[in-house]
Amino acid sequence: MAVGSPLKHVIESQQFSRSLLEELLTQAEEIKREPHRFSGRLNGRVMAALFYEPSTRTRLSFEAAMLRLGGQTMGTENAREFSSSAKGETLEDTIRIVSGYADVIVLRHNEEGAAKRAAAVSTVPIINAGDGPGQHPTQALLDLYTIREELGRIDGIRIAMVGDLANGRTVRSLVYLLSKFKDMKIWFVAPPQVAMRADLKAHLTEHNVPWVETEDLDAVLPEVDVVYQTRIQKERFTDPDAYLALKGIYRIDNRSLGLMRKYAIVMHPLPRVDEIAPEVDADPRAAYFRQAHNGLHIRMALLDRLLS
Ligand code: CP
Repeated sequence: MAVGSPLKHVIESQQFSRSLLEELLTQAEEIKREPHRFSGRLNGRVMAALFYEPSTRTRLSFEAAMLRLGGQTMGTENAREFSSSAKGETLEDTIRIVSGYADVIVLRHNEEGAAKRAAAVSTVPIINAGDGPGQHPTQALLDLYTIREELGRIDGIRIAMVGDLANGRTVRSLVYLLSKFKDMKIWFVAPPQVAMRADLKAHLTEHNVPWVETEDLDAVLPEVDVVYQTRIQKERFTDPDAYLALKGIYRIDNRSLGLMRKYAIVMHPLPRVDEIAPEVDADPRAAYFRQAHNGLHIRMALLDRLLS
């Protein structure tokens, strides 16, 4: 049951129309409800996973998605060390080669713009699985799916994005997707050192999405339906002291839950370090593990759409 409009590469959230998003979310729902109907759909197809940065969820859920659809996978999980990148091969040459071996390439890279460069030379679809501080569009798709599943709607939600917003590719991709829905309101909760970048705030203003910038998390918690917490990304800081000054700046704990609405949810792309206390895990509003599991179904829907 491959759905309609064409989708070649998956590089950034801006390329998704609202109707395409709704088709993908609905297909992911069907896959989650009746997975047996989709087994064997990608028999004989091969997915390459090229990961130049560490990953648990994205790589393994893509591999699981391909295997559950009947396809096969190959790849390298530390491409900077274990591919010919270590000998000086360019990303473009690597992609030219791998696109002769695989039907789709899932690429995570440390440089912003890497997925776009890969797509320019690839003969098979490229899926951006995170390009440095740029974007992580498939994470945003599973985030959107989770909001709809948990709250029953996307239009009209009030969401707080918290933490390292300057380096947070998941937040950037999700905000681009949310701007396609109606009556949204977004709070950016971050210290000035890692505040949301100007390009995305300009995008929201241009699309008439109200947004507020603040450092006061406690004041925002009672206002929102979704708290989207993120990690301060140590690996993006060149100055260790600058990282240490921000580490632990916002922490969701039982006290924070007490300030939140009874139905509001806590999301996080994971991995977490110390920004959500383990005591929060037992609260039904802690949606982050359910969110990570949803990655399987949305990635199955995406692979099916690209390859069927
Ligand atoms: N959310 C996410 O991208 O997790 P991984 O880094 O483990 O893939």
